[in-house]
Order: sequence, then C-alpha cells, then structure tokens
Amino acid sequence: MTSEPIRFTDGAGYDRFMGVWSRLAGQQFLDWIAPKQGQRWLDVGCGNGAFTQLIVNNSEPSSLVGIDPSEAQLAFARKHPLLQSVDFVNADAMALPFADDAFDLAVMPLVIFFVPEPAQGVAEMVRVVVPGGTVAAYAWDMEGGGFPYQSVNETLSAVGRPAPMPPSPECSRIEALSDLWTIAGLEDIQTTAIDVERTFADFDEVWNTVLGGPSAGQALAAMAVEEVSRFRELLRDRLQPGGSGRVSLSGRAHAIRGTVPGR
Ligand SMILES: C[S@@+](CC[C@H](N)C(=O)[O-])C[C@H]1O[C@@H](n2cnc3c(N)ncnc32)[C@H](O)[C@@H]1O
Repeated sequence: MTSEPIRFTDGAGYDRFMGVWSRLAGQQFLDWIAPKQGQRWLDVGCGNGAFTQLIVNNSEPSSLVGIDPSEAQLAFARKHPLLQSVDFVNADAMALPFADDAFDLAVMPLVIFFVPEPAQGVAEMVRVVVPGGTVAAYAWDMEGGGFPYQSVNETLSAVGRPAPMPPSPECSRIEALSDLWTIAGLEDIQTTAIDVERTFADFDEVWNTVLGGPSAGQALAAMAVEEVSRFRELLRDRLQPGGSGRVSLSGRAHAIRGTVPGR
C-alpha cells in the first residue's frame, strides 16, 4: 500500500487529503473484518475510492462494486489506475440496484451517518449479501468527539457559525450501531473502536486541509474575509498554542460487523 494520499484536483471532494484519514482508519477496519480472499465485495458509499483501494490491495476480491450517489466522486474513482477493475455505480445506500444474495460481503466505511434512514441502508446490505456473508461498517464517533476535525467544528460554533453535521450523527454510537445490526437480523454481531492520529507539519497544513474540506470549507467560503481571519486565529490558538511546530489531530471511530442469517 502506498502512503501517498489521494488528492482531489477537480473540486469534487470533501477533503483534498481525505485519503489520509480514510486509509488510517480504513486499514484498521479492514484488518478487523479479516475477510477471506476472493470474495464478491460491495463498497457502499465508496466516494473517491480511498477505501476501495484498500480492498483491492489487501483482499483480492473476485469482484468489487462501489456505489455512491455523487457522480463527481465516482468520476474521480473511475479514473484511478488501481481501480480499473472496479464497477462503480451511481446509487443510494437505501435502494441498492442489485439482486438478493449478489455479494459475499458489504461494507459501509464512513458513510452510515450520511444516510438519512440508516436502518434502510443496513436492511439493503443484508438483502444483497448471501447468508453467511458479512455486513460491516465504521463511522467517526460524531457525538463522542471522535470526528478528527471536531476542533474545527467547535471553532465554527465559537464564531457563531453552525458546525456542519451529517444527517444521522447519532447512529455512530456503539449502542446505536448495535441496535441497527440487531434489528436488521444480523448474527454474531461484534463491535470495536478504531483510534487514529495524524500529524501535520505545521498549522498551515491543517488550514489548507480544512479549506479544501466539503463542510467547514463551505462554511468558510460563506464568510467575510475578516471573519475567516478571526476563525483562523482562533483555530490556530486552539491547535497550536505554542505558535509553531507540528500539529496532531486524532479521531475515534466505531466499527461493527455481523453475519447474514440463513433465509
Ligand atoms: C466520508 S465519505 C467516505 C468514502 C469512502 N467510503 C471512504 O471510506 O473513503 C462519505 C461518502 O458517502 C456518500 N454518501 C452520502 N450519502 C449516501 C447515501 N445515501 N448512500 C450512499 N452513499 C452516500 C458520499 O457521497 C461520500 O462519498
């Protein structure tokens, strides 16, 4: 696996360096699932293909489909040289355009809190995965402070701007994930926490990453120049009280997996 992050060049993305966080946490998630080689994979909410690449590199899938409702993200993923064997489909997690039992394994990495009706998304994964197959997901612990850019959101609130939140942040709690998997009828349900840390060379690197992000970046784009300057100083004070040097951010995600029962 290369350590070079996927970099957005087409304005499609929500974080120019999103591949870094996704790979840090995604590798742990994949190791924890411990999938067999040669399986039929479905990557739900594949985005720019950062996690899809991990599947390709680690799991030798016999087939691999990635779905996402963002055509811009899919277009980026389709161009990636390592993802030429992947079938990318424009679709929503809540209405998967696949037959029952079409996959051995379905994953939803960093997606479930974006799905308006998470239970429907989980039910769809169960439907398209064969009995005995695996349905798994992981998500930043949004309500427990696990989102890596929590400090950015808190600083937005400090300047009176609403912090952007996904539509279903509550479902990233371990209990909520367990309820979703239980209600969907999955068996042998297991959960874990994934902790990651990322060190930036300096505050400017953090700032550039935040500016390129889809959520805080959009909030910042709507601000007047003076307000952005104030926000930047507040964020710098929060992240780099000494005024110089490296900046470390950490994140915590919750992961869940279960087995599809016999029908
Ligand atoms: C944080 S990204 C995760 C991308 C990828 N799974 C990864 O780990 O690198 C979230 C993705 O969820 C997608 N998404 C949002 N709502 C969705 C929905 N209802 N169904 C499927 N995907 C959705 C977004 O378009 C975005 O690509």
